Amino acid sequence: MSRKVLVTGGAGYIGSHTCLELLKAGDEVVVVDNLCNSSEESLRRVDDLAGRGVEFHRVDLCDAGELEAVFEAHDFDAVVHFAGLKAVGESCEMPLRYYENNLTGTIELLQAMDRHECRDLVFSSSATVYGDPDSVPIAETAALHTTNPYGRTKYFIEEMMRDLCLADDRWRCLLLRYFNPIGAHESGRIGEDPQGIPNNLMPYVMQTAVGLRDEVVVFGDDYDTPDGTGVRDYIHVVDLALGHLAALDHLPDARGCAAINLGTGQGYSVLEMIAAAEKAAGRKIAYRIGPRRPGDIATCYADASLAASKLGWKAERGLEEMCADAWRWQSANPKGYSK
Ligand code: NAD
Ligand code: UFG
Repeated sequence: MSRKVLVTGGAGYIGSHTCLELLKAGDEVVVVDNLCNSSEESLRRVDDLAGRGVEFHRVDLCDAGELEAVFEAHDFDAVVHFAGLKAVGESCEMPLRYYENNLTGTIELLQAMDRHECRDLVFSSSATVYGDPDSVPIAETAALHTTNPYGRTKYFIEEMMRDLCLADDRWRCLLLRYFNPIGAHESGRIGEDPQGIPNNLMPYVMQTAVGLRDEVVVFGDDYDTPDGTGVRDYIHVVDLALGHLAALDHLPDARGCAAINLGTGQGYSVLEMIAAAEKAAGRKIAYRIGPRRPGDIATCYADASLAASKLGWKAERGLEEMCADAWRWQSANPKGYSK
């Protein structure tokens, strides 16, 4: 049965891929995004790929009046909430901007949902809520310790949603804790378009492969990992997008609030990622070993079994496909959406 879904932050990296999968599944999609870290071009391409469109509203979630107007015009079955600021380093420099945008935006959204009696929500949380884990793979029951303001916004929002579900059993919230999303849609038409110098490994590697950057700096090779470089659970963004559809399908049977990891359960090191990217791009990628990045941990990968048992979802796309799709996007759009 088709649904009407509000997608906040739908013009962004993960949001645009999710909008496409929702349209392909026959859902009606309304996007609100203030375009602070994205462009409307992503949604134009989503419309092209799907053969039908999303309804877009350039709205800041913190603007209660504009958000209310969107809720007045529609009767949503569920909300998928991606909108937020996400750069760890920037959040340490400008914590109030992060708390205001991510927490106020979410509170306005939850209040609007409550007023309009739409209480089914899928939220973008992050493996960052686990901080430096005591052991891997990381299960949802692991202790939560956040290490930076960005991570704390995710933790506080999770707590807010847990409180809301305890106070009113009509709310159903699925808190999806993403591991490391990479890759792009197989068409190469939508993908990750970081503003300025990328913070994350794979966009940096791909920009180096395409000649926009001289070399990758590997942040430390003295970690307690097989090759000394950091190990992460990289997940294809299309698998991640499909995880949101599985979560929406599950919502009617959900009770209260539940946190669910979206990862593959498999970790790869920085050097393994560079080697896989070289293979996909068919060229050498220059790199050198630099110092550790403050705040980084050695190893992080998911116990992905709860998503399998609860949502019937698991990641299907392997490392080769992630790198091939990332390269197709990067080589066809060297400067992202801005030509
Ligand atoms: P993104 O920056 O590409 O997308 C976020 C979108 O939200 C952007 O289009 C931005 O313009 C919009 N936005 C931000 N603040 C807004 C506001 N106040 N009102 C309206 N729109 C606003 O990021 P992404 O990688 O697609 O991430 C989506 C979500 O997933 C974020 O909440 C992020 O924290 C979370 N997440 C991302 C990763 C990752 O590595 N990409 C990992 C874990 C969790
Ligand atoms: N790395 C490098 N060089 C770079 C960038 C990264 O060597 O230029 C290394 C990092 O040290 C780490 C790995 O590559 O070992 C992955 O780093 P990313 O920055 O791509 O990803 P992180 O795991 O550090 O963080 C990401 C998101 C966070 C999120 C976290 C949750 O950026 O927002 O995953 O899993 F919270």
